Amino acid sequence: MTIESLGSEALERITAAGDAAALEALRVEYLGKQGSVSGLLKTLGKMSPEERQTEGPKIHALRQSVTDALASRKEAIDAAALEQQLASETFDLTLPAPERPRGSVHPVSQVMDELAEIFADLGFAVATGPEVEDDWHNFTALNMPESHPARAMHDTFYFPDRDEEGRRMLLRTHTSPVQIRTMVAEGAPLRIIAPGRVYRSDSDATHTPMFHQVEGLVIDKGIHLGHLKWTLETFLKAFFERDDIVLRLRPSYFPFTEPSVEVDVGWENVGGRRVLGGDGDAPGHGWMELLGSGMVNRRVIEFAGLDPDEWQGFAFGVGVDRLAMLKYGMDDLRAFFDGDIRWLQHYGFSAFDQPTLSAGVGARP
Ligand code: PHE
Repeated sequence: MTIESLGSEALERITAAGDAAALEALRVEYLGKQGSVSGLLKTLGKMSPEERQTEGPKIHALRQSVTDALASRKEAIDAAALEQQLASETFDLTLPAPERPRGSVHPVSQVMDELAEIFADLGFAVATGPEVEDDWHNFTALNMPESHPARAMHDTFYFPDRDEEGRRMLLRTHTSPVQIRTMVAEGAPLRIIAPGRVYRSDSDATHTPMFHQVEGLVIDKGIHLGHLKWTLETFLKAFFERDDIVLRLRPSYFPFTEPSVEVDVGWENVGGRRVLGGDGDAPGHGWMELLGSGMVNRRVIEFAGLDPDEWQGFAFGVGVDRLAMLKYGMDDLRAFFDGDIRWLQHYGFSAFDQPTLSAGVGARP
């Protein structure tokens, strides 16, 4: 067979190959080790130089054209196979959505996500700490020594055992130990919030033995009460989605802050319901106690291993469940933790409704 006829036969058969397997068989037949084109290439060695000069280019051109034909046929076969697959796989966009999406985001999780979003925008990271704490982090390092009366006020759940260092173990009574843990682990400067579960032996319509707090802590140079007030105001305006949130700072006492301030928010009466916003001193308005805060006590900064002459800061702690109740209108805290499907369906949030600053952090149930 001449090179020309071998070539035209090969191209014809390749073009006619119906599937990938047939094509592969042809590749082996022509270009494989024992293939006819490969055989021709081997004859080049035995040719005279003159012969090789005329035959060489022809044989190489043949190999090239067979190689190209195989590649383009393969492309066509693959494309056809994909086309066929796409035509057979259908996805019916007209199918109805499930009647009711199952599962929802608990208001506590929703509010925590909202808080993280708001504070991330202010440059705060989210820190965590253990719920099973030792009394050094929960009390001592927060300037509450063994005999301190504030310890008794916390209705603490203690464990019977102590840790290896002889510290009493307990369920943390507030998120403030995360202040200590973060300062010890990361040093300064710091800007964190620490949301999480806390535990106190207490139970009625507005108290449950387990509830949620979010701690805020800023440690830097030259921090003062003005920074605290601005931060709280900015946070509460974003959270309640109202620009007329008015704060009242009252002197208070916490062992770990000095000075300490209790923060009240003004409310107004809207159709018999107290809604946050407006000046609490205006007629028909009032003040609601919302959170505890203050400048971090220098002793706490020392306990955490930092130099209080170099670093100052503010801290605050606020009840997450309480924030959820105020924003979304529940009145019994106990229902938060009953797991009643009707309550969850009523107050829960869609998992697709991620709080963002641009779309509004306050999705509606
Ligand atoms: N830990 C305090 C509480 O649980 C709240 C608080 C936090 C107060 C930080 C001041 C600073 O009541």
